[in-house]
Amino acid sequence: MKHLKRILAVALCLVYVLGLTGCSFVDNGKRIVRISHAQSETHPEHLGLLKFKEYVEEHLGDKYEVQIFPNEILGSAQKAIELTQTGAIDFVVAGTANLETFASVYEIFSMPYLFTSEEAYHAVMNDTEYMKKIYESTDESGFRVLTWYNAGTRNFYATQPINTPEDLEGLKIRVQQSPASVNMVNAFGGAATPMGFGDVYTAIQQGVIEGAENNELALTNNKHGEVAKYFSYNKHQMVPDMLIANLKFLNSLSEEEYKIFEEAARLSTEVELASWDEQVDEAIRIAKEEMGVQFIEVDIEKFRNKVIGVQDEMLKNNPRIQEIYNHIQEVNEKYAEEDTK
Ligand code: GCU
Repeated sequence: MKHLKRILAVALCLVYVLGLTGCSFVDNGKRIVRISHAQSETHPEHLGLLKFKEYVEEHLGDKYEVQIFPNEILGSAQKAIELTQTGAIDFVVAGTANLETFASVYEIFSMPYLFTSEEAYHAVMNDTEYMKKIYESTDESGFRVLTWYNAGTRNFYATQPINTPEDLEGLKIRVQQSPASVNMVNAFGGAATPMGFGDVYTAIQQGVIEGAENNELALTNNKHGEVAKYFSYNKHQMVPDMLIANLKFLNSLSEEEYKIFEEAARLSTEVELASWDEQVDEAIRIAKEEMGVQFIEVDIEKFRNKVIGVQDEMLKNNPRIQEIYNHIQEVNEKYAEEDTK
């Protein structure tokens, strides 16, 4: 039933997106700007996108109307990226794991234990000048990243407690559809099972997989805490989400309009980041008190040691990540020094 509803919703939306409004996307003289994302309407990313909409319409409302499609109703991240690539929609929010097959430099964010602190992670991602050349790396595929959103720290959660890497042995763990994430979970000893985000709940419920790995909001916003009651703080990755735009659309904007979209993107990140910090604490509370999820503090060193070879292997196999890797190490060190001051 849930599936049928979902298929109907997608079909209706596609009819709406591709059919009723025609290919020109012009409605009442306004250009409709469509954004797809995977989260619910209370998620920090949705709130950030509402800010994006507000700013664009406040400054260019006579010309553009922004429409936001949450909950994967236009399709999972990979499908929605394809729609953005062809210009069927204009923007999509997706994690960098989904971009690896378009530009291999994005593999860097799937590297386990890449960032050594949240401060270093934020400093790297907020360095817009530095990130620009990464963002432009998908130009050949017809889309470009405009800004990033915080998606927290990723951890394992399952239907049974995971206290040590040994507890992962033989467990089927859902990962994003990214080769680097598959390698990582296999290196931890689990059996990596790639699938779209929207399928995870049912897969855990039906016992197709034993668990997954994500941030705390997956437990509440995506309700995974109803089916997986053990969340282990092993902190293996900080993987950002990206606001991705169709390149032709960006190029169709005048210089002045581009600046407004750019500022709207910056503001959306500001709102998303602030809301993220508030929502994580609330998600932990709800997961514990209302869903009965147990949060487990683990010996992170044991998990780190288990995948120690993965960083070197990734660097050896993909020279395109070396430069950003070195850059991140410098930022890591800077924040480690500040910590000891
Ligand atoms: C997080 C992240 C999404 C991603 C999802 C996943 O929710 O914000 O962009 O798609 O994890 O694991 O697929």
